[in-house]
Amino acid sequence: MGRVVVVGSVNADLVVQVEVRPRPGETVRGGPLSVGPGGKGANQAVAAAVVGAEVALVGAVGDDAHAEVALTGLRRAGVDLTEVAVAPGATGTAVIVVTPDGENAIVVSPGANGTVQPERAADAVDRAPDGAVVALQLELPPATVAAAVRQAAARGLRVVVNAAPAATLDTAVLAACDPLVVNASEAAVLLGLDTVDDPAAAARALLALGPRSVVMTLGAQGAVHATQGSEEVRGVTPPRVDAVDTTGAGDAFVGALCAALADGRDLHDAVDLATLVGTLAVRRAGAQASYPDATEIEEARRARRA
Ligand code: RIB
Ligand code: NA
Repeated sequence: MGRVVVVGSVNADLVVQVEVRPRPGETVRGGPLSVGPGGKGANQAVAAAVVGAEVALVGAVGDDAHAEVALTGLRRAGVDLTEVAVAPGATGTAVIVVTPDGENAIVVSPGANGTVQPERAADAVDRAPDGAVVALQLELPPATVAAAVRQAAARGLRVVVNAAPAATLDTAVLAACDPLVVNASEAAVLLGLDTVDDPAAAARALLALGPRSVVMTLGAQGAVHATQGSEEVRGVTPPRVDAVDTTGAGDAFVGALCAALADGRDLHDAVDLATLVGTLAVRRAGAQASYPDATEIEEARRARRA
């Protein structure tokens, strides 16, 4: 069983279904409020655990009522929470509206995620087991992400950076990524473009920024990946499913990817499994609440081979 250490955010997600997103100045009526565990880091940790990795999370929650909600999914999945600090103040919170097409719009208030200091993250990575895959997203302070990446690279640990929410990355962080994982809009931000039209060209352009490998997710179209030293861009096509709520699907992808890499699979195999797990996560509402269990993943893999 592979080991994954996620250095990342823990949030409580406040989710409301709406017919249409409110426009500026407008008030719209939504469905019932659902409060559940989220945060890109926590979501990825849970997904990696579901796929079978031994997972630890480095991060922080607040000392408010949302902290317990935010940790429920991690506890259930058996994620090691030794390195999750409790900081005075609010737990990270995401306010999410979901429309009938399954698309979401999210506002994140960082709360305790903003208190994770670079030294603490680097120390935790220093204590990570040999051979662990270290996974990061961009909901912790940039200096914390950079320090954790530096420490992981110094130890020769494999680093996976999911550049979400979209932001540019410094050269040292980019150079350590194996892979850098982005969706099309995050790729556009990294490349300084308005949109990405040609995924293969974008994957090559991202490689030119310095990461060892790149994975670009394409929603219902699956994913492409490319590695330094090869001109080839390979793709994976997902099974067709009806999208209910895409929240957390990208995180399910990244968590599964890290688990597969930690288990020694090659990048193509890992992207293949990640595409399946990410796709299964759009069929239900919520982030972690929508993740498939091991049995559902196995069934879907068998159905795909048949
Ligand atoms: O990627 C989905 C996640 O983004 C949500 O769970 C929310 O907490 C925000 O961090
Ligand atoms: Na979902």
